[in-house]
Amino acid sequence: GLVLGLEGTAWNLSAALFGEEPTALHSSPYIPSKGGIHPREAAQHHASVMKDLISRVLTDPERIRAVAFSQGPGLGPSLRTVATAARALSIALGVPLIGVNHCVAHIEIGRWATGFSDPIVLYASGANTQVLGYLNGRYRIFGETLDIGLGNALDKFARYHDLPHPGGPAIESLARSGGYIELPYTVKGMDLAFSGLVSAAQESTAPLEDVCYSLQETAFAMCVEVTERALAHAGKDEVILVGGVGANSRLQEMLRVMCEERGAKFAVPERTYLGDNGAMIAYTGRIMLDHGVTLPLEESQIRPGYRADEVEIVWRPEPGE
Ligand code: ATP
Ligand code: FE2
Repeated sequence: GLVLGLEGTAWNLSAALFGEEPTALHSSPYIPSKGGIHPREAAQHHASVMKDLISRVLTDPERIRAVAFSQGPGLGPSLRTVATAARALSIALGVPLIGVNHCVAHIEIGRWATGFSDPIVLYASGANTQVLGYLNGRYRIFGETLDIGLGNALDKFARYHDLPHPGGPAIESLARSGGYIELPYTVKGMDLAFSGLVSAAQESTAPLEDVCYSLQETAFAMCVEVTERALAHAGKDEVILVGGVGANSRLQEMLRVMCEERGAKFAVPERTYLGDNGAMIAYTGRIMLDHGVTLPLEESQIRPGYRADEVEIVWRPEPGE
């Protein structure tokens, strides 16, 4: 049997199946006309492409055993559109509904794609930046951003300079010919903050390449520092990088160097499974179904502030079991 997964917490509506591996992965990104993501526009986009996307994935309805959807965290209007479609599908197909935490799904598809069993996870996307690791039945959040996500910080800086959206790749390529200037570095305990860094970068009069380079070096060094401390504190020896910002080769390189110095292993899932995608929801839904975790319709309301550590990870055996 197959689990159908539906993801649409933010800009990308995506659906896929998972049986033995991800199949039928289809996505439809919403690209903001100007400025950042407008929550209602994103939801309208999701609604307008939903029928087409689902019909592409649903070629074999008899084989679907459950419908999994991203229940949160994310933008309310987008989440509502996805939840409504998932409920309707579950009723129409007569199969259970599964509510998946989006952050947990990034971690699970990351473990699946890298083959790492117990990694420290740097999850760096548009809206989220967290360092997590498994401890006593939960993914604990060791540290996280106190203001905006790393990807949104890069996108904000890029918009300020009229660089194309999303800003991450544009900044990465400009940074290749840049040199170092000092920018504010903010790690508070195990937490991070990016908005002061972005403001300072925007105010800088240095050449744009230098600012891009230094913005990356500073923000990424902050993330690597927290990841390194989580690794030492938790006594683990594997690190994975997930989320859309994980596509950045400089961030990958900095993490790889840190891991080599500590004798830890480092890996990044292939690009398809890094950013938001339906396969991660289908896969996590599959594990949850196999462990009897389904969601009654009356409990299927969206959870815009759903945190990874609220989820009981019943599918991971305790050490020694
Ligand atoms: P989430 O809902 O988990 O916050 P998201 O909606 O932000 O996810 P993702 O696909 O995980 O979606 O991440 C998108 C972000 O990744 C954007 O902010 C984009 O600028 C950033 N990004 C993409 N490629 C790169 C890159 N090469 N370097 C840095 N950032 C990148
Ligand atoms: Fe995401």
